[in-house]
Amino acid sequence: MSQQPRASELATDEPVTTASGIPVADNQNSLTAGARGPVLLQDFHLIEKLQHFNRERIPERVVHAKGSGAYGSFTVTHDITQHTKAKLFSAIGKQTETFVRFSTVGGERGSADTERDPRGFALRFYTEEGNWDLVGNNTPMFFIKDPIKFPDFVHTQKRDPQTNLKSPTMMFDFWSKAPESLHQVTMLFSDRGTPDGYRHMDGFGSHTYSLVNSAGERVWVKWHLKTQQGIRNLSAAEARRLAGADPDHAQRDLFEAIERGQYPKWNVYIQVMRDDERSAWERRTGWNAFDLTKVWPHKDFPRIPVGVLELNRNPANYHAEVEQAALSPANVVPGLGYSPDKMLQGRLFAYHDAQLYRVGTNHQHLPVNRPRCPFHNQQRDGAMAIDNGGAAPNYANVQAAGSRPQGFGHGDPGWAVEGVAARYDGRGQEDDYTQAGNLFRLLTAQERQNLFDNLADPLSQVPREIQERQLGHFDRADPAYGAGVRAALAARARV
Ligand code: HEM
Repeated sequence: MSQQPRASELATDEPVTTASGIPVADNQNSLTAGARGPVLLQDFHLIEKLQHFNRERIPERVVHAKGSGAYGSFTVTHDITQHTKAKLFSAIGKQTETFVRFSTVGGERGSADTERDPRGFALRFYTEEGNWDLVGNNTPMFFIKDPIKFPDFVHTQKRDPQTNLKSPTMMFDFWSKAPESLHQVTMLFSDRGTPDGYRHMDGFGSHTYSLVNSAGERVWVKWHLKTQQGIRNLSAAEARRLAGADPDHAQRDLFEAIERGQYPKWNVYIQVMRDDERSAWERRTGWNAFDLTKVWPHKDFPRIPVGVLELNRNPANYHAEVEQAALSPANVVPGLGYSPDKMLQGRLFAYHDAQLYRVGTNHQHLPVNRPRCPFHNQQRDGAMAIDNGGAAPNYANVQAAGSRPQGFGHGDPGWAVEGVAARYDGRGQEDDYTQAGNLFRLLTAQERQNLFDNLADPLSQVPREIQERQLGHFDRADPAYGAGVRAALAARARV
């Protein structure tokens, strides 16, 4: 049975206008001198049409270029007002409009959705106090712990500058020299590295953030989103097959599920750590609570339920609402806060900066990015100024300084900072292996075998020296881990 076309799939007879709204008499035949031409420069409609076409693309995101978006709502199911004064959590049953953009990380805008890669899980809450963006991944940890390594790390995931090919050698050269990556490398090469679309994976804020309550007390927090659809992963072979047969598998799955009314949902949880608990836990475990390569074990900090996220509306226009979406971890509302995590600090700068280049000076004026609450400031002008402050004064009243004690940067308790300003090299002094080993030991026998095979495929293509260095890390995480990957490599060498 043939499918009904979508409205956007069929041309209409509606009269066309120029971008300035002037009716166009003929949109099929250029204005020419004589039937054969040449074309006349005064065919402004033709010229405007070609000019606009030439400018249709904006730069793709430098990472997370391939993605899918949807709108929905967040509903509070449990009271966490003891921890946060943020108004979106003020009452059970309260709903806040949301937007989510899922993505892969390393590939270009046209790359396959089923690549082995972390998945982005970038969530925006349009709260009455401004936009809160929780820009996370489907993994609770990350490969590195210092933002200065991020551009180098990402370059190893992109194409070789000469061959223009992806390079397992670049990837494992980096990972084998940065053993803090082992925890996430283990997750990436497990079955979780190829989720079956976006509906069947969990989400994580990953960093340690903070919550501040109305008494001005701060706790450290990690955010978790657990899929109600259940975890479902693709085998490596199926992921490879789909990359050819249906490279937009995840986009199709999300869009069609929402069109069918099968709205995906996630349970939202927090883990909470008081600062006095932090010092005791750090002494006991030797781990740093702000280290993004580590998780907080659930047995130490159980998950506390908060609410439910549901996605229930597809964007009407992909470019306007998904490609131009500009989310940033710097966007937190009163009652939510940052932490000293070095990676988070790097990200607080990086996103808005990238978006000033990628979308433009006034990217926050676009409908998908604009707050749903009233907003005003003295930022004026620049390209595409849509909400330019109207007739309101364009400078701030000096005497008003500090008059909004609950606002951004005010009313928050500070946190103590100590130490000498220097560059600290933690290599060899920090435990990069225990949590990676713990993750490995959680896997079933079949899942371990999949991990060995998924690793042996790229590792069999890299120089011996890099292979050995990486195998040494697997050995230190768990001898069975190293032995398993060695056996999978040996099996490949025999065929
Ligand atoms: C220092 C480390 C990092 C830097 C410098 C960085 C930088 C960036 C930049 C520049 C973008 C493109 C933004 C845009 O053009 O809109 C981006 C996108 C993204 N990043 Fe990061 N990133 C870092 C680490 C992370 C981590 C640890 C996570 C997850 C926990 C993450 C998740 C994402 C996601 C989900 C997107 C896509 C957002 C969207 O869908 O629009 N990044 N990152």
